[in-house]
Amino acid sequence: MDAKTIRDVDVSGKRVFLRADLNVPLDDGRITDDTRIRASLPTIVNLLERGATVVLASHLGRPKGKVNDALRLRPVADRLSQLLGRQVRMTGDALGPGVKVALDKLRPGDLLLLENLRFHAAEEANDPDFAASLAGLADLYVNDAFGAAHRAHASTEGITHHLPAVAGLLMEREVDALSRLLKRPARPFHAVIGGAKVSGKLEVLTALLSRCQAVLVGGGMANTFLAAKGHELGTSLVEEDQIGNARRMLSEARRKRVRLMLPSDAVVAPQIHQRASTRTVSISSVPKDQMVVDIGPETLAAYTEHLARARTIFWNGPMGVFEMPQMAGGTNGMARFLAKRFRAGVVTVVGGGDSVAALEQLGLAARMTHVSTGGGASLEFLEGKSLPGVTALLRADAAIDVTGEKA
Ligand code: 3PG
Repeated sequence: MDAKTIRDVDVSGKRVFLRADLNVPLDDGRITDDTRIRASLPTIVNLLERGATVVLASHLGRPKGKVNDALRLRPVADRLSQLLGRQVRMTGDALGPGVKVALDKLRPGDLLLLENLRFHAAEEANDPDFAASLAGLADLYVNDAFGAAHRAHASTEGITHHLPAVAGLLMEREVDALSRLLKRPARPFHAVIGGAKVSGKLEVLTALLSRCQAVLVGGGMANTFLAAKGHELGTSLVEEDQIGNARRMLSEARRKRVRLMLPSDAVVAPQIHQRASTRTVSISSVPKDQMVVDIGPETLAAYTEHLARARTIFWNGPMGVFEMPQMAGGTNGMARFLAKRFRAGVVTVVGGGDSVAALEQLGLAARMTHVSTGGGASLEFLEGKSLPGVTALLRADAAIDVTGEKA
């Protein structure tokens, strides 16, 4: 990464404001996937071991500027306490007199977690006064929240105008791994894109058509492409308003001589339900009363055969409704195939919440070159956009000396 990182500055005896992305999925107050917390540990531990006092901050969910008890960071503090083997104290608010009192009690090597930043509307508004107040809590700012780097918020962008700012180890790893895909991927470079909708992925699909030699489409979004080619898909989700865009992308792929592959068969079901019965049909004979819930085995075989030529593979988005075992064959098959290719020396990079959850479910997350903690952030990065959180670190870099002081 071109910006300075925590390795480049002296943090001993300093109070560090560490912005992490601890935005984890919760089910009734229970964390269902702690990947982001575990991924944040190396930076937290590094700073604590080097004698910093760490003021840790994150958002959780989208409370839209209001206190929402269901989105308090308490479950995160509890999980962090387990992982660190020490009690993680937290404040009742991200700012205010309580925070000041708690901060005054901290010693080098101590950690304090602030309450959800997004309980303040000023966070998402990137309010300069709020950013200055956050900066007032520390001597040095560290951004490790790659997952939130596409947001220009007070704790990801505004604060860097007030403090020397460097990247954390996760931020560095993410930016380096994804930059390699943009700058010098080993070719052939193929992408597998799934998930429900074309609409959220138009820009990344367009970018990938310029960078890859093949783009393989699965998940609900494949339906819209298939509909654009005239297929009847029963009761499947099809984004009618995106059919024009899908057509444009199909002709763009032809013009650029990029192979854009679509499913030739599908697993169908009358509805998405734990007990729904499924069967496999050719894509040209989806029954009127059934919906596509996964790519079929013939498609998986064709996709993996084609991907076997790739030296770099990027995967985002599940191939079907992987949460239901009878609809998970395509997603699980793709995950296992990628793990095998990684063992064979192929660069395999996975981004986006759902495909990462599928890998976690199969215990395969460690068997990839890189699994991004960023959903939207990793896609925007691959679109070639500059992420405000990263740009702020690059700008701030010029203004810091190795002691961690602002020059
Ligand atoms: C994410 O989950 O992608 C990040 O934590 C950012 O969250 P947001 O989309 O609510 O800004």
